[in-house]
Amino acid sequence: MNTVKTVRELRAAVARARSEGKRIGLVPTMGNLHSGHAALVVKAAQRADFVVASIFVNPLQFGPTEDLATYPRTLPADQETLLQAGCHLLFAPSVEEMYPHGMEDQTLVSVPHLSEGLCGASRPGHFDGVATVVSKLFNMVQPDLAIFGQKDFQQLAVIRALVRDLNMPIQIIGEPTVRAADGLALSSRNGYLSEEQRAAAPALYRVIKHIAEAIHIGERDLNLLLANGVDQLKAAGFRLDYLEIRNATTLRPTTEEDHDLVILAAAYMGSTRLIDNLHLTKE
Ligand code: PAF
Repeated sequence: MNTVKTVRELRAAVARARSEGKRIGLVPTMGNLHSGHAALVVKAAQRADFVVASIFVNPLQFGPTEDLATYPRTLPADQETLLQAGCHLLFAPSVEEMYPHGMEDQTLVSVPHLSEGLCGASRPGHFDGVATVVSKLFNMVQPDLAIFGQKDFQQLAVIRALVRDLNMPIQIIGEPTVRAADGLALSSRNGYLSEEQRAAAPALYRVIKHIAEAIHIGERDLNLLLANGVDQLKAAGFRLDYLEIRNATTLRPTTEEDHDLVILAAAYMGSTRLIDNLHLTKE
């Protein structure tokens, strides 16, 4: 596996693979890779002949008080993980390479509505940063397909919308969330948790799962389910950002007629913000 740091080298390597008739798969990441990321690369290697992964901690998607400076950067370990998972090329650019004209004047890609509520409400500008960097990566690599984790459910919806709206000929594949044995969704930010916080954190998924199970067995008072869920999360030590049940396609508040639902949560354990979700069908 080669690692390249410039767009020129990236384009040359991808052009070589394409001239050999290879299908190109892209797995965009911010590094500090865990087995959830490795699963995305394995999937890409099943669907494409040449797998490109990117590692770029994108300043444009971090708010001024967020963890950009402390976000873990672990390139050598990440290179090993990617190699083992079947990646062919790693693109690990600098901020200057990605934003050579600075970020102030950077053209932004903005997906309305889908970007606005949920994480978008508490992280203003976050999804514009994601949509912009992902669009840039798509233009740099021009992959046939790109793979993202379903843990970032809203992010995946935003990316599907931008590809559709900007007519990008790229297949977007969402891969199931990889979890620890106790149910906690794998995330680079789990590393910020103390031992005690890590022990309490699986409550996030437990509560989401309880709500899904109650809906499955016929409970229709969603407000009651959510209110109980909020109480349980607080009792487990979380400070809640949101716990919501939404239409899984539009991410708008659910109505009686909706059958394709998603339960989404974001909550702070200490100063660490964790997110999770569960996609379900209501009979
Ligand atoms: O999910 C992530 O790691 C990032 O938001 C992404 C998609 C790589 C864009 O920076």
